[in-house]
Amino acid sequence: MIVAIDGPAGAGKSTVAQRLAERVGYRYLDTGAMYRALTWLAMTRDIPLGEGAKLGALAEENPITLEEGRVWIDDTDVTAAIRKSRIDRVVPVVARHPEVRAIMRTRQRELAELGDAVIEGRDIGTVVCPGADVKVYLNAERQTRAERRLAERPEIGADALATDLRIRDQSDAERMMPAQDAVQIDTTELDVEDVVSRIEQLVRERQPA
Ligand code: DC
Repeated sequence: MIVAIDGPAGAGKSTVAQRLAERVGYRYLDTGAMYRALTWLAMTRDIPLGEGAKLGALAEENPITLEEGRVWIDDTDVTAAIRKSRIDRVVPVVARHPEVRAIMRTRQRELAELGDAVIEGRDIGTVVCPGADVKVYLNAERQTRAERRLAERPEIGADALATDLRIRDQSDAERMMPAQDAVQIDTTELDVEDVVSRIEQLVRERQPA
């Protein structure tokens, strides 16, 4: 069974998707980490982030591994490096290129085909796995999303972070459409555990008896 969890930055996707995966015993796939790892490699190699064809080739030649919570590219563990604000700021530029998205989509589908997984991203329910068994779109008010991000990136400061989030929302906007058949959950006022329980219920309802 595939569970797709989409939504904007700070909506609670990662925490919810990881806990849900633990509860139902499925794999957890963070597709944002794949775009982040590619961005890290492009910056490390000084490849201009506006060059879609070059970035697509880079993605093709450097498969990303997601394993036990670690993210690898080019034989390097980039798990911590890809969470820095310098990556936050430019990853939408890389994620925008159709050449990059085509490679990522293929890899993400291959991973999905391995079976039971909770897959987190922006376009999982719409593009990568339109046939997902459960589709959820998480959202929250921007102020709440900014506060959550601030807790993860205290070094940045509230104002800079709010600006970054607004710019990222604009850059990611075209991919932030909920699937028509997605269950939409506003997490602004909800506890993580409540959100996880609601989705777990959807999963249990669709699981074969
Ligand atoms: O969820 P995140 O912040 O780690 O995502 C990083 C970037 O990758 C963000 O700009 C959105 C983009 N992304 C995407 O375009 N499609 C996905 N399936 C996942 C992430």
